[in-house]
Amino acid sequence: MKLTDNEIRDIRKHLEAGKPLPEKYRFLLFDDKREVELVWNGKTNEVCNIVLPFQVIEQVDEPRSEKEQKLNLELFDQHTGRQIKGWTNKLIWGDNKLILSSLKNGPLRQEIEAQGGLKLIYIDPPFDVGADFSMDVEIGGETLTKRAGILEELAYRDTWGKGADSFISMIYERLALMRDLMADNGSIYVHCDWRVDGYVRMVLDEVFGRERHINEVIWLYKTGGASKDRWARKHDMLFLYGKSDAWIFNPQKERSYMMHKYGFKKSDFQIDPETGLQYSMVYSRDVWDLPSVGSETFERVGYPTQKPEALLERIIKASSNEGDLVADFFCGSGTAMAVAEKLNRKWIGADLGKFAIHTTRKRMINVQRQLKQEGKSWRAFEILNLGKYERQHYIGINPDLREEERRRQLDKKERDFLDLILSAYHAEPVAQFKAFQGKKAGRLVAIGPVNLPVTAFL
Ligand SMILES: C[S@@+](CC[C@H](N)C(=O)[O-])C[C@H]1O[C@@H](n2cnc3c(N)ncnc32)[C@H](O)[C@@H]1O
Repeated sequence: MKLTDNEIRDIRKHLEAGKPLPEKYRFLLFDDKREVELVWNGKTNEVCNIVLPFQVIEQVDEPRSEKEQKLNLELFDQHTGRQIKGWTNKLIWGDNKLILSSLKNGPLRQEIEAQGGLKLIYIDPPFDVGADFSMDVEIGGETLTKRAGILEELAYRDTWGKGADSFISMIYERLALMRDLMADNGSIYVHCDWRVDGYVRMVLDEVFGRERHINEVIWLYKTGGASKDRWARKHDMLFLYGKSDAWIFNPQKERSYMMHKYGFKKSDFQIDPETGLQYSMVYSRDVWDLPSVGSETFERVGYPTQKPEALLERIIKASSNEGDLVADFFCGSGTAMAVAEKLNRKWIGADLGKFAIHTTRKRMINVQRQLKQEGKSWRAFEILNLGKYERQHYIGINPDLREEERRRQLDKKERDFLDLILSAYHAEPVAQFKAFQGKKAGRLVAIGPVNLPVTAFL
């Protein structure tokens, strides 16, 4: 780094006046000169390193197959049927930032490493502003609107509070944590669409390195309306990156229907019995034409952003092997978990939404039942929660900080929490009372501490 005397004086002048340095110094001051870089308000390389304890809420290992009980007796406690040895799949309820940092820095890391590490991560983060936690869900044939809970509101603000900036910060930190948890030969698929694809690609380049980009898969579908004032938006993107250059890849084949026969031997062709058309089997391309989950689809579980199992089947078959550990930290209705289980992979799923956890739980029990009926084996899973401690985290402060900074952060967290509750309930803030923090429709509003349950599930 060679700075002129003038530049050094200029930098000193800015620092002494407490002013931000001019843009040009970003490239002069630091060794790591990236030629192309995504910069956003609040960009930092720091990632969360908090470790919170997981609490086991439930262990789900029924129904067991009689066959498996006889063959693998030592894996099970003979009185309760509970799996006592080996890996237990994990469905974790909580904010994935805290989940990831607790997995990375806490005792479960060893368990993950013992399975060979995370070989495959698929994530489908929220990329449609406003469609995160408040959603219409079908329950018993009725459509109900599920409102966001407090932790969901906080996550929503974390993701969209400052528009694209906050989405990028949210995804950057999580991807950095996921990268550290991945096995060396692991890979990650990040699902997104036109709203955030440009940002996501650049963040992935930064976290994994441009040279670790393996594919950009286009998923084509037909469902939903079409606009007359532009091309109908009918595809999503999936970016595939490897942690190293030794990623797992089992090539998949697909049908290629023949328009002509030049250059092919007759033995290359097969006939589709339904259409009578000729096709040959070729290595799959990076454009996948697969139906999305429509209202008539048998696999539909009533979760608005549910992705098709066929999509996850391709991903999991290609980028992992049987017995490998597969994870989805934005698991929604648990599509990745259901497919992983059917394909004999171990899994970790996480979601912040209670409804997502309920849906995945129910879906996985059905998968266990289906596998039992088919005479196949399955793994137990446990539902873990970070919630109790997570709420404390939102109001807790790092004890290592200086007193002044701790007080500043605590005040800010309390203010943010009060603002959040007031806006969620459409109340106005009031300053003149100690016991009341807001007013609504001529009445005063008192807000309890953050760890008090204040919203119902539906
Ligand atoms: C697009 S959906 C995933 C749908 C899923 N692929 C499926 O097939 O059902 C995104 C999910 O991310 C979850 N989510 C959003 N922010 C989160 C966070 N900070 N931590 C954990 N989950 C989060 C939402 O609750 C939602 O279920």
